Amino acid sequence: MIKRIIGNWKMHGDAAMAHPLTEAIAEVADKLPPTIEVILCPPTILLSQVAHWLIGSAVKLGGQDCHIQPEGAYTGDISAPMLEGAGCSYVIVGHSERRQYHKESNDTVRQKAARAMKTGMIPIICIGETEAERTSGKTEEILGLQVRECLPEEAKPGNFVLAYEPVWAIGSGKTPTSDDIRQIHGYIASVTSKRSGIPQDKVSVVYGGSVNTDNAQEILATEGVSGVLVGGASLKAELFSRIIAAAV
Ligand code: PGA
Repeated sequence: MIKRIIGNWKMHGDAAMAHPLTEAIAEVADKLPPTIEVILCPPTILLSQVAHWLIGSAVKLGGQDCHIQPEGAYTGDISAPMLEGAGCSYVIVGHSERRQYHKESNDTVRQKAARAMKTGMIPIICIGETEAERTSGKTEEILGLQVRECLPEEAKPGNFVLAYEPVWAIGSGKTPTSDDIRQIHGYIASVTSKRSGIPQDKVSVVYGGSVNTDNAQEILATEGVSGVLVGGASLKAELFSRIIAAAV
């Protein structure tokens, strides 16, 4: 299965920072075998410029969120067709920061993912348990529910990616053990397969949460991990390049 290395810049960066970062990543990414794909998800305001700098490069572009509707009177929002028009082939939906700060429910996340699919983009559907859910032994229950409620009926092999992002691991420097990641990715793929009828080995599940240059190789080599979603470490060309190299 293709390995995806996804950089989520969140609300960071301006053109002066993004230009050299994009060019450095494109240089590294363009030497990779076709089984590895690098995806940059800059803030919306930078998408068109990043798309311009990526002309001729294999690096793909993604949005960080989209609206459930294709257009309309929704001040401040961005639609999936707009992202697609700006050059995106991916969009992150249901990131835990959207769930936390914008009160997004599983139902909203599923509608956003469905909209992305209808627009011809691949949604990167984020799921993950909180620290409290983990310590009370509810990890599988929560993830199972999130998969069932966030996966649109339009799901087909290859038209979506799931991102397992334990909320307690995001930006904290803490990560699950590789045994835990293997077991949880297997569980997510199995629930997804039962729900959608897609064979388990065709379900792509990337890992996200404190991926860095020290742990990327081990995480990427873990069974059931088809890539990584990287926040903080994707903002520095040197660090992100080393994470990309760990996938080879
Ligand atoms: P982090 O963020 O790599 O900074 O932990 C990951 C994410 O939120 O996607």
